[in-house]
Order: sequence, then C-alpha cells, then structure tokens
Amino acid sequence: LDNGVGRTPPMGWNSWNTFFCNINEQLIRQTADSIVSSGMRDLGYQYVVVDDCWMSPNRDANGNLQAEPSRFPSGMKALGDYLHARNLKFGIYQAPLDQTCAQYFDSYPGATGSLGHEVQDARQFAAWGVDYLKYDWCSPTGTINEQVATFAKMRDALAATGRPILYSINPNSIHEKTGPQRDWGDVANIWRTTEDITLAWDTGQTNGYPMGVKNIIDVTVPLARYAEPGGFNDPDMMEVGRGTLTDTEQRSHFAMWAVMAAPLIAGNDLRSMSAATQTILKNPRLIAINQDTLGRQGVQVAGDPSHRVLAKRLANGDVAVALFNSGNATRTISTTAAAIGKSGASSYSLVDAWTGATTTTGGTISASVPAHGTVVYRVSGGTTGDPQTPASGGLASAAS
Ligand code: DGJ
Repeated sequence: LDNGVGRTPPMGWNSWNTFFCNINEQLIRQTADSIVSSGMRDLGYQYVVVDDCWMSPNRDANGNLQAEPSRFPSGMKALGDYLHARNLKFGIYQAPLDQTCAQYFDSYPGATGSLGHEVQDARQFAAWGVDYLKYDWCSPTGTINEQVATFAKMRDALAATGRPILYSINPNSIHEKTGPQRDWGDVANIWRTTEDITLAWDTGQTNGYPMGVKNIIDVTVPLARYAEPGGFNDPDMMEVGRGTLTDTEQRSHFAMWAVMAAPLIAGNDLRSMSAATQTILKNPRLIAINQDTLGRQGVQVAGDPSHRVLAKRLANGDVAVALFNSGNATRTISTTAAAIGKSGASSYSLVDAWTGATTTTGGTISASVPAHGTVVYRVSGGTTGDPQTPASGGLASAAS
C-alpha cells in the first residue's frame, strides 16, 4: 500500500501472545519503558501495539469509541502521548464487525467493533495519535470480495484522516478459509498469512488453527512474490522468549522471520526477558537483513519437505541466505553462489549472522545445521542477479 509508511517491515511489540485480554495502561507503559531500557527501540522496535480488549462496551453520546476506563483510566490519547514522548509509535486494534474477536473466545463484554463507524473511528484513532491499526476479520464467514471491500473501507477512512497510519489486516481470523487468498498489497501494508501462531514448533496444521512456527514458515515461503516496500506478508507476532520452544527453534523462528521480510513484532513479556531472548531479538545482523530497503522476501532456491534454502537479495548487492533444517536430525545443507544470484568473482565472503564470523568461499555455501536450526549468511562479492527459483518453487516431491 502506497501510504508512505511500512516501507520496510514494521518492528515492535504486541500485547496479544502473552497477555491476551489481560491488558491495562500500566502494562503498556512498563512495556514501553522496557523497549527503551533494553535497547530494542534503538535497534528499530518502534510500534507498541495494544491488541484486543482495550475498548469499552459503550460508545459515548456522539458515537465515539472509548477506552475501558477500568483498564485505561487515563484514556488512549494520554497513552499515545506517553509512547510518543519516548520516540515510540502507537498501535491499536479493531475489527470490521459489531464486536471484535474477544466476543468468541474471551467473553470480553467490551468487544465493541468498528462496523458502520469506519470514518468516525479512523478520525478518533488519528485524534488519539495512533500510528498503526491492526484490523481483524473475526468472522467465520465472508467471501473474498466482501473482505476486500470491507478492508478497503477502513484503508480509505485512514487515508482520509491525513495521518500516516500503518495498516495491518488479518483476513484469516476465525475464518472458514484460512490461508492467503490473494495479494493484499493494494489494501494494506501487512497482511496475516495464516490463522494464529501458537507456542509450538509443529502442530501438523497447514490451514487452520493452531499453527506452529514451522507450519507458518511452510505457508509463508511460497508467498515471497507479494513482498515489496509498503506491503509485506505477516506470519504473525513472534513467540520468541515465551518458553516451550528450544533455543535453536527460537533462533530459527527469528532468523526465518528476518529473511522472510516479516514484521518483527515481539510477543513476549519485555519486562522480564532473559539474556538468551535478548540475544535473539536484538541480533543486529538479522535486523539489518529484515529491514533492508529493497523490501524483498527471501525466495526458496532449493529444498525438500525437511529443509529449505532461501535467498534474499539486499540493496547493496549482498544476498542473505538461510539454510533452514526443519527435519529432526543434524544435516549439512548446501547451495551455491550461482543459485543465490551471485556471479563474477573467484571468491565470496560469508558473514554468519549469529556469530558474526567471516569466512570465504569459491562458490559453495554450506553449513552443518542442527535439527530445527537455521544458519544465515550474508554473502558479498561479485555481481548480483535474482536468485534462481526452480519452477517447483524449490520444493521437491514429498518422496525425496
Ligand atoms: C485474532 C488475531 O489473529 C490475534 O492476533 C488477536 O488479534 C486476536 N484475534 C484478538 O482477539
């Protein structure tokens, strides 16, 4: 979407994965303070997004949305001011229905939606200083044409406010047809590719709820062609730092989100992060790959059902390569400079994104990758063309 924002994938934090409906202004303020004190803000984590359950069941006498006073007694304008004073940006959640998703699974009484109030609510968001709207379908029904028309209505209402507001949509929420059904780049800055992420590596689901990290990668990799500055696939908020996943899996999660040009929206409790979690979320080399101004998503140049090789072309001519092992045993994964679009040099340099170590190669790019692990190299040297994507999308048949 060409609205001046989201030219690289948004980075920030969202309340949902850890706190669900249990949110209030103190939590959001403490989280904002932690983004600053942890150094995350200065690495690019900018948007603080208040997800579902901030709203009161009642609109005011003029029909305006109101924050639930028991949770946000100072109101949303004050919260936005608090964030802006810290050079952070303010994100908020709504749904194009009478009621938000909280009506289904949390019986939250205040799940007031935006249906029929799109223009009024967009103006209200702008008046509160909102910089990011997450707009969540939350309905088991609705055709793709209805979704397009409905999401476009809020897109236009936001544009009419004159305030640059990043527009995040979720067409897959509680919807009978989950999974990507079109290129949403004409409607939104980011669009969810699946139903909700859950705290698991592999749930076996590829089209429905709940989706593990590996399952979401499987769905999102083939959508690389949709990514561009201003429009990115959104494989959901991150589960890094929330336990259950191994350290290797959490590193893979972050590395693959980085190379897939995904929004890097942390979903953990930032007030109590371990050193290991911070090492992952604050990796400057992976953040630079994610935030590259060319806005490309890594494309698959090789793979079979248990491993993938992605190549992400970067603005300065470097190429980021992810060697992703989704199988259950350590294995060597290899590609070549030619396959990732590099040519014309007798030697290329490889910087390992996790260790920072530099090595050189005459052409083979290879690593021993632990089960569920991902090695990422930033490759420089020679000249750069587009990676060689096999017609199969790089996926051999399940038999291989
Ligand atoms: C469904 C979305 O996919 C989640 O990310 C979250 O926003 C919930 N709805 C909130 O109700």
